[in-house]
Formats: sequence, C-alpha cells, structure tokens
Amino acid sequence: MINAVITGIGGYVPDYILTNHELSTMMDTTDEWITTRVGIKERHILRDDSKGASFLGEKALKNLFEKTGTKPSDVELLICATSTPDHIFPSTASKIAENTGIKGALAIDIQAACSGFLAALEIANVYIKAGKHKKIIVVSAEKMSYMTDYQDRQTAPLFGDAAGAVLIEPAEESIGIMDTQLYTDGEGFRHLHMKSGGSASAASYETVDRREHYVYQEGQAVFKHAVVDMAEVSAEIMERNNLTDNDIAFLIPHQANLRIIDATVQRTGINPDKVIINIDRYGNTSSASIPLCLWENEKNFKKGDNLILTAFGAGFTWGAVWLKWGY
Ligand code: UT7
Repeated sequence: MINAVITGIGGYVPDYILTNHELSTMMDTTDEWITTRVGIKERHILRDDSKGASFLGEKALKNLFEKTGTKPSDVELLICATSTPDHIFPSTASKIAENTGIKGALAIDIQAACSGFLAALEIANVYIKAGKHKKIIVVSAEKMSYMTDYQDRQTAPLFGDAAGAVLIEPAEESIGIMDTQLYTDGEGFRHLHMKSGGSASAASYETVDRREHYVYQEGQAVFKHAVVDMAEVSAEIMERNNLTDNDIAFLIPHQANLRIIDATVQRTGINPDKVIINIDRYGNTSSASIPLCLWENEKNFKKGDNLILTAFGAGFTWGAVWLKWGY
C-alpha cells in the first residue's frame, strides 16, 4: 500500500504589515471591532502592483527547495491552489514553474477558494497512490489584497496575502494522508463571489464603476454555513476513523474567523490547546492559511502525529483531511 506523505514545507509572507490601527485611519472601523468579531490584529500585504500571486508562490517554492534539497528538475507535478491568479489564463502554476526552474512537469491551477489546499492535497494523494508520480508540489498562493475593496469596511479587514507549499512523496509506511472528505454546495455562490471579470460578466467601464472586481460577501450567511459545515466535516472524519481528542495532536482550521474556529473546536471535542491559530497575525489568506499554519508550526510536529486539517470557503466548498505527520 502506497501512502502520500508531506515531506517538506515552504512558506512566504510579504513584509508590509497592515495593522487594524492603519485600517481605522482608512475607513470607519476600530481595532476593537475587528479583534472581537473576527480575531485579526494585522495582515501582510504585497504592496507591489506589478507582482501577482505567482511571486508569493515562487518564494514559497524556493524556501521549500532550500529546506528539502529538492531539485526543480525532480518535480513531476505542480498544483497551484489560488483564487487570485496572476491572469485568467494561463495558469499561475505555469508562471511559478517557469520562475523556479521546473521543466518537464505538468503545472496546473485548481480553484476551490479557501478549501483549495485541501482539494489540491487530495489530487496529489490520488496521483501518488496510483503510482503515477513520486514528487508533487502543492502550492497555495494568494494575493487577496488585489480583490479586497479598501472602501468596504465589511470585507477590507478580513484578508491578507501569503503562500505555502508542500512536497508530497510516496511512502510504504502507514503515514501521510490517511483520509479526506470534501464537499461543494453551489448554492453558496450567491453569498460569496466576485461579480465581474469572468466570462459571465466581462470587465467593462461599468463593472469597474460599480466596484464589481472585489470580493462580494454576505458575511452572516457565510458565517452560518462555515460554522456548521467546518465543524460537521471535522467531526465526520474523526468519528469514521474512531479518532478522539486523545488521538489528535493538532487541529489546523482555515483561518477566516476566530469564532468559526471556536465552534469547530467545540464540535470535535479537541482540547483548545491543540488548535493552531495565527489569524491574529495574517488574517484570512484563503487557501494559503492551512499551509501557512503548517509552515510556522513544523518544528512542533513529530512523526506519526495525527493532524486534522479543515477548511470552508466560496463555492461553497469545505472539507477535512486526516494526516499522520511524516517526519
Ligand atoms: O474564508 C471563508 C469564507 N468566509 C468566512 O468564513 C467569513 C464568514 N463571516 C464572518 O466571519 C463574519 O460574518 C464577518 C467577520 C464578515 C462579519 O461579522 P458579523 O459579526 O457577521 O458582523 P455583521 O456583518 O453582522 O455586522 C455587524 C455590525 C453591523 O452594524 P449594525 O448594522 O449592527 O449597526 C455592521 O455595519 O457591525 C458593522 N460592521 C463594522 N463595524 C466596524 C461591519 N464591518 C465593520 C467594521 N468595523 N469593519
């Protein structure tokens, strides 16, 4: 039996830190509101209009190559999860491949919004288990600031920019990706989307005037689904694998709102001390939030540790992964 194992992690956040205080000078908001309602204090922003998500992804890959000694020429498949591609086409993955020296490999993007890392991980898992590839990189690269409307106090405080990348290889031991569960409910579209810029509503002077190239979110409706769905899918994957708090070393939830994380922790019965949270420093970095947590906490993981990863995002998409840490 071949398992797919994460064997290394790279990450990157841009230098500029946008604090709640600075936001409160730009719009009618306060540090107190953002901290109590969402749990964010600051977020990192890529303040260079000439650089897109691929720049963040490239940095994360270079960090991964340096840490693991992997050669770009060894990579057989590069999957980039992003909702903020450099361009509608070609893929952001193809740019990352070009700029990191990956040749002779398929490089593709997938779009599952904030659940993109889990979806890409599942694709890599299936390729490895099928014996098709031996070195796959999954990178989540998100320049969320590009689609954040800094005139809209409902969404402006929420998002940050970041990238995280993992190397996935086969192993014959019982470690790595043990189980996954992913869902989509297209009804969620109406609550969370970008109104224009795609083929259903092409960019025009009018769409720009109407500010339709930013995140549109009905916060409360999304909140209600996120609280229930992320908690339920985490409980589902634990229950069907007979995992309880005693078995779990860490829970790594998507970082969208501290209150959503708290609800997930309560439903799973996992001790809150085992929950990895960094939303206060990075905000919601969409699909990059889970790999960013892995990257920051790598030194705390031991081989064989059981990790539950869980995410919820636009689509709606949501899911959970049970991972046995590999090193
Ligand atoms: O990434 C995956 C998908 N996204 C999510 O999971 C996000 C889910 N949604 C949320 O996390 C929350 O709904 C938000 C953080 C987006 C909003 O929090 P909320 O508790 O749902 O606030 P609300 O939208 O119901 O607004 C409550 C009040 C309103 O004022 P009134 O009508 O009660 O007078 C808003 O106008 O707070 C006001 N408000 C603000 N006040 C100060 C909204 N944004 C702000 C702000 N500063 N930035």
